[in-house]
Amino acid sequence: MKACRAVKITDSIYWVGAIDWDIRNFHGYSTGRGTTYNAYLIMADRITLVDTVKAPFIEEMFSRVRSIVDPSKIDVIISNHAEMDHSGSLPRAIELIKPGAVYASKKGVEALEAHFGLTGIEAVEDGGTIDLDSHTVTCLETRLLHWPDSMVTHVSPDKLLFSQDGFGMHLASNERFDDEIDDYVLYHESAKYYANILMLYSNIVAKVLKKIEESGLEIDVIAPDHGPVWRSKIPWILDLYRRWSAREMKKKAVIVYDTMWDSTRMMARAIEDGLTEGGVHVKLFNATATGRSDVVTELIDAAALIVGSPTLNNHIFPTVADVLVYLQGLKPKGLIGAAFGSYGWSGEAVRVISSMLEEMKVELVGEGLRVNWVPKKDDLEKCRQLGLEIARRIKDLPDTMLITKVCG
Ligand code: FEO
Repeated sequence: MKACRAVKITDSIYWVGAIDWDIRNFHGYSTGRGTTYNAYLIMADRITLVDTVKAPFIEEMFSRVRSIVDPSKIDVIISNHAEMDHSGSLPRAIELIKPGAVYASKKGVEALEAHFGLTGIEAVEDGGTIDLDSHTVTCLETRLLHWPDSMVTHVSPDKLLFSQDGFGMHLASNERFDDEIDDYVLYHESAKYYANILMLYSNIVAKVLKKIEESGLEIDVIAPDHGPVWRSKIPWILDLYRRWSAREMKKKAVIVYDTMWDSTRMMARAIEDGLTEGGVHVKLFNATATGRSDVVTELIDAAALIVGSPTLNNHIFPTVADVLVYLQGLKPKGLIGAAFGSYGWSGEAVRVISSMLEEMKVELVGEGLRVNWVPKKDDLEKCRQLGLEIARRIKDLPDTMLITKVCG
């Protein structure tokens, strides 16, 4: 492979990660812009590698390391997160580098042994430090953000926080910093990452934000394990994480549906009309055309989720089930919603969807709209009225998630 170069992040810290331009599916999360696996080198008196890369990318990482230093000179490796997109190269890296010490959180030590049979890794305490002579690394556990082993590490005097998956995004690019990337891309990919990876752990996100703030650690740079390094827009991304973790909402509804012979689509469009007439911003998705991870991205700041499916073999469409099962896992909170769909004879779909929404603790508006065969004018009016009713409920909410000045 061609020689790759490290990128200087601070006076003594370099990015030595890998760019994955090709990945389009990250265990079910569609990654239309690819991703990066970020590893970092601290050129301290004790030279330290922070995290590694997905296994197939090990040569790219080593090539970048070699552009700065002979890898055998690395004294310490720190593993902030044991998921294999960051630890996949760790066993081979340990073999090649033979570092004096490898550190991880207590749960990280367990996870790395369970994944790779690695032994001899030293556990660092929550709040504990690693002395690199010229630099000090402070370790803060962030359990379940988003794995039990997860931790973040702060480097002084660089005032840099390695945040592993937190504040990350799936975005392949040769630009390494937030101020080198268009704001709309930063917003969209950060939101998509949060919705698909962290939404389930929003309570923990709020606690971790507080923990970092209360640690008193000075932070000029946040270096995540995916996507660009934050140096210019730290207040902006911190504020977004605060808002997302608090589930601040816009006056916005998401409709997701599928259709067999157009009847359920006609219902969806009539509900859309009612919502729009009621002054609510609408995102409408056909589940065949739009994947689960894009739907949940729009739900990050939506107030309502309205789901439609025809009845197919006494059940719902598999495409709709896919989205609902995914959402049941991610548990977006505080939604109102409704079910709708057409049917021929048995008509179970609306009941199935309503039951799944109830399990997600979605507050249902009405009992769900069922239409036999093809919707008539009256049926479509009922759909429009449902949209209007949901809009009325949404409009009572304060519009807190205004994003008109996201990157100002
Ligand atoms: Fe990017 Fe949880 O690994």
